[in-house]
Amino acid sequence: MQREVREFVATCHLAKGALVTSLTLMDPQALENDARAAVADASSTDDVERIRVEYLGRKSQLKLALREVRDRETGMALNALRERLAAAIDGREGELARAEIDRRLTEERVDVTMPGSPVRRGHLHLITQIRREVEDIFLGLGYTVVDGREVETTRYNFDALNFPDGHPSRSPLQTLFLDDDTVLRTETSPAQIRTMEAQGPPVYIVSLGRVYRRDTPDATHTPTFHQVEGLVVDEGITLADLMGTLDYLLKALFGEARRTEFRTHHFPFTEPSIEAHVSCHMCDGSGCPVCRHSGWIEIGGAGMVDPKLFEFVGYDSDRYTGFAFGWGLERIAVLRHGIPDLRELWRNDPRLLSQF
Ligand code: DAH
Repeated sequence: MQREVREFVATCHLAKGALVTSLTLMDPQALENDARAAVADASSTDDVERIRVEYLGRKSQLKLALREVRDRETGMALNALRERLAAAIDGREGELARAEIDRRLTEERVDVTMPGSPVRRGHLHLITQIRREVEDIFLGLGYTVVDGREVETTRYNFDALNFPDGHPSRSPLQTLFLDDDTVLRTETSPAQIRTMEAQGPPVYIVSLGRVYRRDTPDATHTPTFHQVEGLVVDEGITLADLMGTLDYLLKALFGEARRTEFRTHHFPFTEPSIEAHVSCHMCDGSGCPVCRHSGWIEIGGAGMVDPKLFEFVGYDSDRYTGFAFGWGLERIAVLRHGIPDLRELWRNDPRLLSQF
């Protein structure tokens, strides 16, 4: 034990002696040459940092020597050396940092003229496109576009439109009831009544939106679809005005070369009622699957406003006459583009929708 202690003390002395030796033997010129050579060799700012620690750090030879120094002359000389080395190290570090920035600027440059990866852009749904197209056609004719309500009372959806009691549309088998007096509108026609209640004649409006029926979906039916409702009330409006307007609309939608035909029909709210047909735009009337080989396509209902509606809203039916029409937008869309199944418009598959 005694011997171990003695040896430990001896080791300490030896270590101290070596330090003093290194101070006295340190050749400042050799140290500077070494340091400068290392600085010149450094190839990155990390290298420079290591050199800084090695030559100027807390445990560097120079720092230790400075700590031991007692005479002014040696102190000044070593300080001057420290400053020269620091300047050399700083200079090299700046050079390398600039070189690194230059390299990154070249290597990591973004070429803003390179075409980017394409961004997929959406567009309006086909039904919305047709809706806007129809609105534009009528705005061009001086009509106003009005909003209806998707939740309607039976009074506006049926009574005011002259649906008799017991009409099949009043049955919950055909219509979605929210309560005894409230339905999801089955057609846009209630907008006629609401418009006439809100304003006096003349009336030139269209109203487009969703309607709801308790239908099982198939190729020609969906429980929700869109309609365009038109209503004109003025002095001297005749069936000829209605047919002229629908002829204009059908040509705008299906092409100038189309012929139109009107066949008698029945609706509770029009008298007389007609159904508009257009010559097939696919085969120009010679017969094809779209027109089921008849050359003609049925588009939708229309008629002269039944005077009973005028009584309901307080219009003078001796002075004013009017016409109305109500067509399905999905039907126009599938016919125009030869889409075989109306449900496709509700599946919202981008592969289909992106084609329009
Ligand atoms: N509301 C009718 C339906 O949904 C369509 C209709 C026919 C509207 C004749 C009208 C019209 O305004 O005059 O089947």
